[in-house]
Amino acid sequence: MVAFALPKNSTYTVGHFFPAAKTARRTKIFRIYRYDPDGESNPRVDAYEVDLDTCGPMVLDALIKIKNEIDPTLTFRRSCREGICGSCSMNIDGGNTLACLKPIADIDGEVRIFPLPHMPVIKDLVPDLSQPYAQYQSIKPWLQSDTAPASGSERLQSIEERKELDGLWECILCFCCSTSCPSYWWNGDRYLGPAVLLQAYRWIADSRDEATGERLDALEDPFKLYRCHTIMNCTNACPKGLNPAKAIGNIKKKMVERQH
Ligand code: SF4
Ligand code: SF4
Ligand code: FES
Repeated sequence: MVAFALPKNSTYTVGHFFPAAKTARRTKIFRIYRYDPDGESNPRVDAYEVDLDTCGPMVLDALIKIKNEIDPTLTFRRSCREGICGSCSMNIDGGNTLACLKPIADIDGEVRIFPLPHMPVIKDLVPDLSQPYAQYQSIKPWLQSDTAPASGSERLQSIEERKELDGLWECILCFCCSTSCPSYWWNGDRYLGPAVLLQAYRWIADSRDEATGERLDALEDPFKLYRCHTIMNCTNACPKGLNPAKAIGNIKKKMVERQH
């Protein structure tokens, strides 16, 4: 383990450099944010030189290789490794995305990896998502209905009604969008943010749900919904190609429609 100096414009403390074996022929440097709030050290950025000939193609493969073979103290979340669980979201090469869907080959030069921005850090690349999860719970993300299903068993939808949920149900709650939204950075304690608002619209748009009025009432608030200023960072960040800004626009439209 060798100390190295960070680039001149960096604001992070000098970290450690873990070189690859001398026999490695194709290598890449991964600079990774390291922080343990329970420890006594300031955050730092460590650099790991990874042998790409013995590493899988995605950034998550490199993180797993680093943890397994170089530095077991490196901490990050992952589960499915195929863009479904939403747990490996982090800031890679300056943008929020899923490590398991980000090809190493798409990144020129060194790979810089930080936790999702503007969230408290539990350790290294693991953000504390208690706030967005509590906000998710607050929108009651389940079907609410007082009447029995007409068929006696299933609640049926027409093909058109079901289509209304496309672009919404695919959300994996990775929070890449919310943590790239300036309004959420500054007002995250009161503004629900794009991920949770997209989920709120997922239930408002569901023809089987009978609580649309209550759901809209709950969002009729200067902060929860109306802090969205259509900056569009959220839509650009979504690794699933969804459009949370459009979902937010649709909620605002419903608010207007019900006044007429
Ligand atoms: S469009 Fe709204 S939710 Fe999306 S980044 Fe901008 S302010 Fe945030
Ligand atoms: S809308 Fe996209 S970026 Fe936002 S939480 Fe859902 S999947 Fe992640
Ligand atoms: S590990 Fe599940 S989305 Fe990346």
